[in-house]
Amino acid sequence: MIEPPGPLAKNIIERDCDVMSSCLARPYPLVIDRAEGVTVTDVEGREYIDFVAGIAVMNVGHSNPAVSEAIIAQLAKISHCGFPDFFAEPPVRLAERLKQMTGYDQVFYCNSGTESVEAAIKLAMWKSHKQGLVGFYGGFHGRTLGSLSLTCSKVKHKAHFPAIRTVHSHYAYCFRCPFNNEYPDCGIQCAAYIEDVIFKRELSPDDTAAIVVEPVQGEGGYIVPPPEFHKEVRRICDDHNLLMVADEVQAGCYRTGTFMAMENFGVRADIVCMAKALGGGLPLGAMLSSSDIMDWPPGTHSNTFGGNLLASAASLASLEYMEKEDLGGHAKELGGHIMKRLREMQAEYPAIGDVRGLGLMIGIELVKPDGSVDPDTRDRIILEGYKEGIILLSCGDSVIRFSPPLVITKEEADAGLDRFEVALKKVIRS
Ligand SMILES: Cc1ncc(COP(=O)(O)O)c(C=O)c1O
Repeated sequence: MIEPPGPLAKNIIERDCDVMSSCLARPYPLVIDRAEGVTVTDVEGREYIDFVAGIAVMNVGHSNPAVSEAIIAQLAKISHCGFPDFFAEPPVRLAERLKQMTGYDQVFYCNSGTESVEAAIKLAMWKSHKQGLVGFYGGFHGRTLGSLSLTCSKVKHKAHFPAIRTVHSHYAYCFRCPFNNEYPDCGIQCAAYIEDVIFKRELSPDDTAAIVVEPVQGEGGYIVPPPEFHKEVRRICDDHNLLMVADEVQAGCYRTGTFMAMENFGVRADIVCMAKALGGGLPLGAMLSSSDIMDWPPGTHSNTFGGNLLASAASLASLEYMEKEDLGGHAKELGGHIMKRLREMQAEYPAIGDVRGLGLMIGIELVKPDGSVDPDTRDRIILEGYKEGIILLSCGDSVIRFSPPLVITKEEADAGLDRFEVALKKVIRS
């Protein structure tokens, strides 16, 4: 870790190192004090343009007044009621809103992405009476033991931990095709692998409850599959009577332009996991499905905080804001602009091997001259970006992700990209 920028940051980091579990991994010494829109201010008063949105959470922008007002109004009445054991209106209104937006008529609330995936796994097992799962290499679904079984992005997430029975298939990572094929002539061999290899040699469909897939892989490297991939996964689920689970935790909530990212691919999953931006900055997860699937009896699954009233109020306000401001349309438009600028940089700097994305879920993959991954250069650019006043994070083996608040303006995006280019130049020409 580089030196913190000042004594206030230094003091907090020292105290943090003393008391916080050592499993947390921070890439640079950013100590956040406050934020508004896409501007984050650290404890020393330095301002940063936020390309990360609190890990794809603050889609409505930091300190969004509409969301803050809704939280304060709810706080004045009651913040928590133990909704899974009693009744209250805000979580019901939110579920009705989600039903109207998605067509899924049943909602189960929880507090995080990993819990929404746990709920989906349990529902799929409960409904099918089967316990096997198919996930994808590079997939990230959380770190509790069920979701961790599906997660397959870094082995250090999994070392020493047990797993439920999961077999991983290949995601459509066309930039580094696992079969050395070229799209579109490949016949989407990565999806075919499930039937051709996994179901023949490793896991019978008769033992498989669900295939769990991210519409766009997030932590695995911001990978956008070609249009046929999810359709093929859907067909395999239908042909073998399996449930299809879409993990929309990172890609959902208009980040890719549509409310659910799967809408971009014209595919409807049986079960949908949402969290992150759904809570408008407060912890909220939801697992959505239809009443013919989610017909488990009372007591089968529950928790304490699901449907928390503050989180429900924040979520309702942020959904309303995103719809009213057409943040989906904005994400598409601005995503196009950011990708264009990144492609212009790619033409100048061959270290950028790939620029890809959907809406405001954009990744650039850093490569060595021989085309292999270059995590070292990637990490140095992120660090240099921090020094220049932009907040970036890595993903995949060699990728920098751009997932700003969806409210980011063209001017803010350009200012951030200018700083990014300075950082890029400094690293590449050093
Ligand atoms: C696609 C996806 N699913 C699940 C999770 C886990 O969410 P949480 O960290 O809220 O448990 C993440 C987190 O990054 C994610 O990106």
